[in-house]
Amino acid sequence: MIGAKIEGVGAYLPPKVVTNSDLEKIMDTSDEWIRKRTGIEERRWVDHESTSALAYQASLLALERAQVSKDEIDLIIFATLSPDHDFPGAGCFLQERLGLPGVPALDIRQQCTGFIYGLSIANTYIKSGEYRKILLVGAEVHSKGLDKSPKGRDISVLFGDGAGAVVIGAHPVEDKGCDSHIYSSHLHADGRFAKELWIAAPGTSEDFEDRLNRQMVDDGLHYGYMNGKKVFAHATKSMVAAVMEALEYNQMDVSQVDLFLFHQANLRINSMVARELGISEDRVFNTIMKYGNTTAATIPIGMNDAIAAGKLQPGMLVMTAAFGSGFTWGSTLLRY
Ligand code: UT7
Repeated sequence: MIGAKIEGVGAYLPPKVVTNSDLEKIMDTSDEWIRKRTGIEERRWVDHESTSALAYQASLLALERAQVSKDEIDLIIFATLSPDHDFPGAGCFLQERLGLPGVPALDIRQQCTGFIYGLSIANTYIKSGEYRKILLVGAEVHSKGLDKSPKGRDISVLFGDGAGAVVIGAHPVEDKGCDSHIYSSHLHADGRFAKELWIAAPGTSEDFEDRLNRQMVDDGLHYGYMNGKKVFAHATKSMVAAVMEALEYNQMDVSQVDLFLFHQANLRINSMVARELGISEDRVFNTIMKYGNTTAATIPIGMNDAIAAGKLQPGMLVMTAAFGSGFTWGSTLLRY
């Protein structure tokens, strides 16, 4: 059978480091609050670059490491909630930067779960035979859209900028064997909670006369809103459930997984998920301390850094899980 294998991983973090102490100077917050509540110590902010510019750098690295020429890519999937422009999707801007006219570019909008949805789409396309080499990217520029007033501080201290990319290719694999490929993906959403973590405008809601006007900007509708406690509670429960679903589907147990790469929203969430799963925290690879929450980019950035740290090696069984706005959540079990 044909399986979808991750052939190369790359990441790009803008060089500008913004520490919690730097935020103290521009916002009503404290290093102590941020560390204690989230585990975040610093994050990266762009000087001026766009989301597709970060994605481009991560993509070049992923292609180089996969030893794949860009001309072999037959589909681009771009997961982001912070595209360069309202439309067209950031995938088209990345495709233009890569110089791949004609190659399809698909943007997906599943926020923190975007990369997991992307893995599922890539896996399905590859197994169907429709595409053979897919570039999947998760990238965000949050720093240009943060409310730095006291009203927005609960959100603004959490998010950072960054990009991660993987090249996924078609490979013959043995059914139920140990070849490197995506074993399964498990996706979920619950729109009843759509407004618990969202950005209202611009938009065509019945509540608005215009997609965006001065009043909407004055009211801050273009900034993110989050019901932090509700998101926290659902995130923990849903990520544990998504991991268990993947294990049950593959008839495996938690001890067989070599590395857990979870979305990076809050170190406390990941500690609770580890505790619920009965795994020691050193089996979870976290990057939130250095980068904050980079939404669709957290998992590929985690892969990149885990490889660099020698914690992710070929042949390892990897469990990813994420939760975010939508609500959306899911998991992927793969052999790297
Ligand atoms: O990736 C998408 C998914 N996102 C998540 O999973 C995030 C989930 N939620 C969380 O991680 C947490 O809810 C937060 C870290 C966002 C907030 O932690 P919390 O323990 O739920 O704090 P809180 O919002 O209840 O606020 C507690 C206090 C409040 O002050 P009072 O009312 O107790 O006086 C806030 O005003 O902390 C205050 N506060 C801050 N203080 C300093 C809120 N934000 C800040 C801040 N700096 N940045």
